[in-house]
Amino acid sequence: AEVVIVPSADEAGSIAAAAIAALVASRPDAVLGLATGSTPLTTWAALATRGPDLSRVRGFALDEYVGLPAAHPESYRAVITREVVEPLGLTPELVRVPGDDGGPLAGAGERYERDIRAAGGVDLQVLGIGRTGHIGFNEPGSSLASLTRVKTLAEQTRADNARFFASVDDVPTHCITQGLGTILRARHLVLLAFGSAKAAAVAAALEGPVSASTPGSVVQLHPKVTVIVDEPAAVHLA
Ligand code: F6R
Repeated sequence: AEVVIVPSADEAGSIAAAAIAALVASRPDAVLGLATGSTPLTTWAALATRGPDLSRVRGFALDEYVGLPAAHPESYRAVITREVVEPLGLTPELVRVPGDDGGPLAGAGERYERDIRAAGGVDLQVLGIGRTGHIGFNEPGSSLASLTRVKTLAEQTRADNARFFASVDDVPTHCITQGLGTILRARHLVLLAFGSAKAAAVAAALEGPVSASTPGSVVQLHPKVTVIVDEPAAVHLA
């Protein structure tokens, strides 16, 4: 992986946004893989400032909670609409979230995989990483070849995401997430991490053994990965 250590999350967002803007300049209907959570926010902000035309860009979110209505403000459909689609001018119909096709949850993973394939695959996948080492919601123990499916959220992830809800009890217990195998099919991975709470997960992902216990370590199997981290997140890198 190419590892870029930057002074601030804003700087990281500028670099990631430049990569996205360059992609879209060469391919106006590029397919973006979208992460939610706090990490990509500086990327979206920097992209909004650059102002490229993203109206033809297609998007596939990494994951979605199971059991939250789509209209719930913390569903990833709602988050993507609020934080990505509206401020950046994407076309809502071109942006997908796992399980959003109106069909039953059973088979939703396979249908999402089919839809990503039909779109020609993801050109650039934005990734954050959880303190458990997850990418997407692939918690430790996820198969390295896994595809989109329903998963249980780790208790630590529910606790970490409780900040978006009234209490941890309101955080869903399950999700539907792209698998590690799905993520590896994207043509370019851009992994972002900020703050000391992510340092151990970043070092394990980039420099530890490739293992299902460290889901983020699958990025070591990918030929084109850009890792952009701030100094606190980089402290455990060799
Ligand atoms: C979000 C996702 C997760 C987050 C990770 C980090 O779609 O798939 O892997 O990227 O939990 O979350 P933040 O960025 O909130 O620290």
